Amino acid sequence: MGCQSDNQVNEQERKVQEKMTLVKRVIIVMSGKGGVGKTSVAVNLACALAVSGKSVGLLDTDIHGPNVAKMLGIEDQTIQQFGTDMIPVMAASNLKVVSLALLGKAADTPFIWRGPMKAAVIRQFLGEVDWGVLDYLVVDSPPGTGDEPLSVCQLLPRISKAVIVTTPQDVAVLDARKSIMFARELNIPVIGIIENMSGLICPHCCTRIDLFKQGGGEKAAQDLGESFLGSIPLDPELVALGDSGKPLMLLRNQSEAFIAFEKIVSKIEDFCK
Ligand SMILES: Nc1ncnc2c1ncn2[C@@H]1O[C@H](COP(=O)(O)OP(=O)(O)O)[C@@H](O)[C@H]1O
Ligand SMILES: [Mg+2]
Repeated sequence: MGCQSDNQVNEQERKVQEKMTLVKRVIIVMSGKGGVGKTSVAVNLACALAVSGKSVGLLDTDIHGPNVAKMLGIEDQTIQQFGTDMIPVMAASNLKVVSLALLGKAADTPFIWRGPMKAAVIRQFLGEVDWGVLDYLVVDSPPGTGDEPLSVCQLLPRISKAVIVTTPQDVAVLDARKSIMFARELNIPVIGIIENMSGLICPHCCTRIDLFKQGGGEKAAQDLGESFLGSIPLDPELVALGDSGKPLMLLRNQSEAFIAFEKIVSKIEDFCK
């Protein structure tokens, strides 16, 4: 896959366009910074949409740190090959998942790939997977504005929209701004900004602790004229749920984080109508 000829690339791109005629919308979850909650947001957004009866695909384009399968508790399953197509793993009814972590390689083996190889694997994941008809394809991205989100945006410019995740602190917000500029540059509409890890309620005294400060995401949205989709609090249960493969939006525990997330999903759906 290292050096593809122009013909091979064109053929892959043709397959992408063919498969994506059945996909209504693509939501790319991005942020400039790592560890701010992109994968948690992508997984829970996909689960929430699937629970509400939509046909959903979830594509993990984080090649160096594919965490989607682990967070969904499907890391022991593998993508099957059927003819020339790959069959996604079903994580719940209506939820099809594709990730490098589902290709049967040992979980701790790194993929050491350069840019063109990443672009090639993303073309394969879009064009050689039997996604079928989807209301939403949610795409989880690695941090930053590199090859992975660039490939998706360039291959699917008309149906893609971006959700930007940040924590409230300045360094994360600064990087989130870059993601917005990146989306604008590529003419991808920005659905809005989510402020994650926004305050922690002490389980002992119920005082709110603003571990990563507060309001940075909302201010960035205002400054840049984008929508603010809402804040999700820091919730220790979310860490445990992510590690045990039980997404909050499938568990539906009515926690503050769950309620915040439900509101965010409904804003995203409104934008996509
Ligand atoms: N609101 C939250 N409260 C508590 N932990 C969270 C929250 N959002 C994400 N996490 C945890 O933070 C870590 C990083 O989140 P992740 O979604 O992997 O970020 P990214 O994909 O941006 O690197 C994970 O362990 C995840 O479970
Ligand atoms: Mg991630």
